[in-house]
Amino acid sequence: MLENPQRYTVTAALIYANGPIHIGHIAGCYLPADIYVRYLRSTGKDVAFISGTDEHGVPITIKAKKEGITPQEVVDKYYVQIKQAFSDFGISFDIYSRTSNQIHHETSQEFFTKLYENGDFDEEVTEQYYDEVAGQFLADRYIVGTCPVCGNPNAYGDQCERCGTALSPTELIEPHSMLSGSKPVLRSTKNWFLPLDRMQPKIEEYVNSHTEWKTNVFGQCQSWLKEGLRPRAMTRDLDWGIKVPLPDADGKVLYVWFDAPIGYISMTKEWAAEQGKDWELYWRNEQTKLVHFIGKDNIVFHCIIFPAMLMAEGSFILADNVPANEFMNLEGDKISTSRNWAVWLHEYLEELPGKQDVLRYVLAANAPETKDSEFTWKDFQTRNNAELVGIFGNFVNRAVVLTQKFCEGKVPSIGELTDYDKQVIDELAQFPDRIGQSIGNYKFREALGLLMDLARLGNKYLAETEPWKVVKTDPLRANTILNIALQISANLSIVCEPFLPFTSEKLRSQLGITELFNWTNAGRADLLIEGTVLGKGELLFAKIEDDEINIQIQKLLNAKRMNELETKTVPELRSEITYDDFAKMDIRIGTITEAERVPKSDKLLKLKVDDGLGGRQILSGIAKHFTPEEIIGKQVTFLANLAPRKMMGFESQGMILMAEDRDGKLALIAPGNAVWNGGTVS
Ligand code: 2FM
Ligand code: ZN
Repeated sequence: MLENPQRYTVTAALIYANGPIHIGHIAGCYLPADIYVRYLRSTGKDVAFISGTDEHGVPITIKAKKEGITPQEVVDKYYVQIKQAFSDFGISFDIYSRTSNQIHHETSQEFFTKLYENGDFDEEVTEQYYDEVAGQFLADRYIVGTCPVCGNPNAYGDQCERCGTALSPTELIEPHSMLSGSKPVLRSTKNWFLPLDRMQPKIEEYVNSHTEWKTNVFGQCQSWLKEGLRPRAMTRDLDWGIKVPLPDADGKVLYVWFDAPIGYISMTKEWAAEQGKDWELYWRNEQTKLVHFIGKDNIVFHCIIFPAMLMAEGSFILADNVPANEFMNLEGDKISTSRNWAVWLHEYLEELPGKQDVLRYVLAANAPETKDSEFTWKDFQTRNNAELVGIFGNFVNRAVVLTQKFCEGKVPSIGELTDYDKQVIDELAQFPDRIGQSIGNYKFREALGLLMDLARLGNKYLAETEPWKVVKTDPLRANTILNIALQISANLSIVCEPFLPFTSEKLRSQLGITELFNWTNAGRADLLIEGTVLGKGELLFAKIEDDEINIQIQKLLNAKRMNELETKTVPELRSEITYDDFAKMDIRIGTITEAERVPKSDKLLKLKVDDGLGGRQILSGIAKHFTPEEIIGKQVTFLANLAPRKMMGFESQGMILMAEDRDGKLALIAPGNAVWNGGTVS
């Protein structure tokens, strides 16, 4: 671990530009990264905060195919949307760029060429599936077939999404190409492999020198290393991506996981050029601390493969830490783009305007730092109302409103201090370091908890000193109390900034702060000078009512229903029967003449059916779908020769036939035109 680095290069995963971002991405990667960087900046550190979109690879081409547009159109659309959402949410990247930029293509190709010239790659000919109709090799995701484990006919070449088994394309039964539908054939092709097996000792040494990494990260690396690393192709037979810079590599591009992390370097170059800085300091200087923020699905790439590439290249620093988070679930289920089970950031920003900090707060408080965590709208509401409004907002508001009321809206003078004042001031002084240490150790939940403890300290101080009473007998003492309360508020405006930047800004203006206070000033009880005029007092947070939350919950329920409708498959056919089997069934038409609920049963209705033979009684399990009133007079189809049986004490003489909808709803089966009662069905 690098102590006292001179500068920081902080990266946040280059997300695929194939869809909008959701709260899982934010909680897992971008928010912790932003908190970390904002804190570093506040302590005066030299930081480059780098991110952008990953615009290559099969995920992009699959999306293009699905939407019927070109891969370029896909990445152009989502780059703009993602960049805007991050910016509106206050994620303070120094640069948010894209891997389709020229400088990135050049940087990646130079990197590849250097490794090639060093002799770092093994050239290998392997057999890959090829689509003879489409005239191209097929990435695993482009091959569909029957899962050998569960029989799902739509399993992909890399995974069956029904049973979760990891597959290789050759394991699929009856594989076919998603491009043309044809049966793919195996064809030889040459690719360039990074010999991770031979590099394993060096990689192991690197990983093992970082026992301070988070347990989930270190553990995952160990399990890869234990299994033994295998060579991995750094090129692919695809037409979307960065061309392999070799003469005999037509139709081949760099593996997306080769070029994407190099994106951190090329984007730093872009940023440095704009800022008149030297990019090399951020990637080649041993006194620079490199930190990658990612989600847990990216661990192997950032802790093993990218470091291996950097080691082979030889002139770059390696990551000091990779504080990957686990996943965040939503309302009891995994977040899923394809099932639309997500809270999309751009929609949140539109539907709950001005509430960026509420989401930042809730996501940081529930961050999946050590294990998967859960977002629920009820928790969102409670945390806002009880914590942001009830603790933080309440304290600051009381300090400001009391000052408006008793001190003409100016920071009052501070007089003699009581022991209790001194104790509170001492406690205040310790908070910035404690919060900073937690952030520096990537313990953002802990840091946020401490931040709220500071607000609690303020509330307790006001509750115990009661300036609204004291003012009547000892206005100078009340001045001192309010001065201290305002100093705590000023400190809150500094230490809340990494978590709640929009609130910090509002608070600064309410307190009339014009200086550029930062972490180095925090902890002091003399930040606000006597006589400073406070700004307009406005509530920092507003209560969130049930209505607002219910709209969001309803949206998710709709998504669930839509999804169930789409995924429910038509049941498989039952085994074949003969005509004679069929002819045994006497199916007839009748009219329901009476209907009533069966006591003590929530399912059964007792029906009287006019069957043209004097009528019969049939019990039917449809009470959850129809009221007695609505079905009286309706024609139905019924099985007339089913042996009578007793149900809840009543005899049922036949069975009403019903059709079941995809969502389990029942519908009557009636003849298209009215038919006489007793009409047979054949
Ligand atoms: O998982 C993803 O969305 C990848 N595109 C992340 C890449 S991170 C880095 F390597 F660029
Ligand atoms: Zn399966």
